[in-house]
Amino acid sequence: MENRKRSQFSGKLGFVLAAAGSAVGLGNIWRFPYYAAKYGGGAFILVYIILALTFGYTLMTTEIAIGRKTRLSPIGAYKKLNSKSAFIGVFTVVVAAIITPYYSVIGGWVIKYLAVFATGGMKEAATDTFFSNYISTSAEPIIWMGLFILIGAVILFGGVKGGIERASKILMPVLVLLTIFLAGYSFTLPGALDGFKYLLIPDFSRFSIMGVVAAMGQMFYSMSLGMAIMVTYGSYMKKDENIEKCVGQIEIFDTGIAILAAMMIVPAVFAFSGGDPSALNAGPGLMFITLPKVFASMPMGGAIGAIFFALVLFAALTSVISLMEAIISAVCDQFKLPRKNAVFMVALLCFVVGMAPSLGFGLWDSVQIFGLQILDFMDFASNYILMPLGSCLTCILVGWMIKPDFVLSELKSSGEFRREKLYVFMLKYIAPVFTIAIMIAYILDTFKIIKL
Ligand code: PHE
Repeated sequence: MENRKRSQFSGKLGFVLAAAGSAVGLGNIWRFPYYAAKYGGGAFILVYIILALTFGYTLMTTEIAIGRKTRLSPIGAYKKLNSKSAFIGVFTVVVAAIITPYYSVIGGWVIKYLAVFATGGMKEAATDTFFSNYISTSAEPIIWMGLFILIGAVILFGGVKGGIERASKILMPVLVLLTIFLAGYSFTLPGALDGFKYLLIPDFSRFSIMGVVAAMGQMFYSMSLGMAIMVTYGSYMKKDENIEKCVGQIEIFDTGIAILAAMMIVPAVFAFSGGDPSALNAGPGLMFITLPKVFASMPMGGAIGAIFFALVLFAALTSVISLMEAIISAVCDQFKLPRKNAVFMVALLCFVVGMAPSLGFGLWDSVQIFGLQILDFMDFASNYILMPLGSCLTCILVGWMIKPDFVLSELKSSGEFRREKLYVFMLKYIAPVFTIAIMIAYILDTFKIIKL
């Protein structure tokens, strides 16, 4: 019933920018630079690119093909593949519903920092306790989170073409320009050259098998895999676009921005710390504690900081709209709701659920799940267990149960499919093993048995 009037992206550019918008997010900015610097600079980057071209390529291609072939939102799509596999669709949508609220809490922090930097509060933001004090207040972070979700919802009200595509076509090019500008600025800082060398020259003495695992996990998260997004966006893709080529372009975008983000952050941190790589950390600590100090030490740091947080905000927004869209499309189709009602319901749900991870740093900070705060637990469970699990199940389903021909016919329907042999081999044998390796490695890392 949905098929006839299903919304579509207007063409290749719209699709690629929207999918790249989903892929480029906090992961590119707050984890890739850290991993790249830690695991041997160019060595890590090289391994990351190889993994993206093989492992990531296989998973993304599969998801997009499932969406486009079935022209259904994830639950219906998986059900169409095999009547017993609808649960995978439900599972992936639930994962999106877990990620959206806590991703929005972080989005709210980004808006707050943008506001602080834009209004001359840099000095204050660069103090040691500013971040921890801020997130432990109850009301304010919830209000900014609400604003972040609201902006996403307003974009989504506009629909696939008028909302997601239009926003991506504006935000993504601006994001690229800002990242290039900031990377260029970093280059001019005294001492930055050592940071560039540290980041780009391959140093295999800093590389290890842990670097491979870190690259796998990072790439997986960065490409927004295993959670209904690429299936949903694929279902809005025109039949005559070549999926393989689009995936290549999305990967170039995602990896390119990750490398540029590293070129902006690593040299700046080196310049600030006098060349000490241990000043680099990953996650919220980098973005909300270290970098504000780095900006405060730079000429024109206030403006640079404001530009940086604007860039992060754009990256996070295009990711959160993809997450919400995956849920919205499923809700619309399952409950036969008009899109606008679904947008409203999903936004409200995410806001209400998002209060828990936000309060987890303040009022509810005594709540610990497996020793983790609520937000950290949601992040851990979704990124490192549920997303890889969703992908692993998808590979087993397509590779072994219904057989790859189902998606191959879709992949070949719009021109030649060049890497067919590689694709089938990765899908059946390698990708399921890699996804399980990610789960195991990050469980060991989170519980401090190993350090990634
Ligand atoms: N790919 C996004 C990033 O790199 C994060 C994300 C994961 C977005 C999953 C949507 C879904 O930050």
